[in-house]
Amino acid sequence: MHAMLLHFALVISLATALAGIGDAAKTTTHIRLYMHDTLNVTTGLMTTGTRPVPADPRYRFGDMYAIDDPLTEGPDAASSPAVGRAQGFYIFASQTEIALFFCFNVVFTAGPHNGSTIAVLARNVFADKVRELPVVGGTGAFRGVSGYGLLSTQGYDASRYRAVLKIDMYLRF
Ligand SMILES: *[C@@H]1O[C@H](CO)[C@@H](O)[C@H](O)[C@H]1NC(C)=O
Ligand SMILES: *[C@@H]1O[C@H](CO)[C@@H](O)[C@H](O)[C@H]1NC(C)=O
Repeated sequence: MHAMLLHFALVISLATALAGIGDAAKTTTHIRLYMHDTLNVTTGLMTTGTRPVPADPRYRFGDMYAIDDPLTEGPDAASSPAVGRAQGFYIFASQTEIALFFCFNVVFTAGPHNGSTIAVLARNVFADKVRELPVVGGTGAFRGVSGYGLLSTQGYDASRYRAVLKIDMYLRF
């Protein structure tokens, strides 16, 4: 009888502990942003690389661009509310394929996260439909955050070198 009660108590405390773990893992926040990247308007070539990348000789290994791209809630830059800026850089980091080392902060300038930032450090392969963005931290409301973003190209205007990129962020606290 006593042994049975003890066993029952152990099962309950184990179940409680597991439920606690489940709750912690569930605190995931989803944020969707659209990034508007326009050559020579919101980005600029800072460093010219050494030699052309065989996969696309318009680019050189080591080309580096600074970016300060607007971020909006929806895909349309003109009509959608601005929420912040993507500020950082990318560098052509592969000698053979178009693969960027992509490093930026999401800087919120409006909305519920105004004043906070999220730091991203990623590899961006142009040819991939979806690129994964590791989130390495944040400030303000996002201090100590971890998680990832999924980046995909929504539209590209080749004549103006203008891209609209969708980012879905999944953040854990
Ligand atoms: C971007 O600016 C660079 C440097 O001024 C210039 O050489 C290049 O032609 C420009 N490209 C476009 C598409 O405007
Ligand atoms: C965002 O925060 C800054 C600094 O506190 C403030 O000046 C600005 O008005 C805020 N912007 C919006 C759109 O709430």
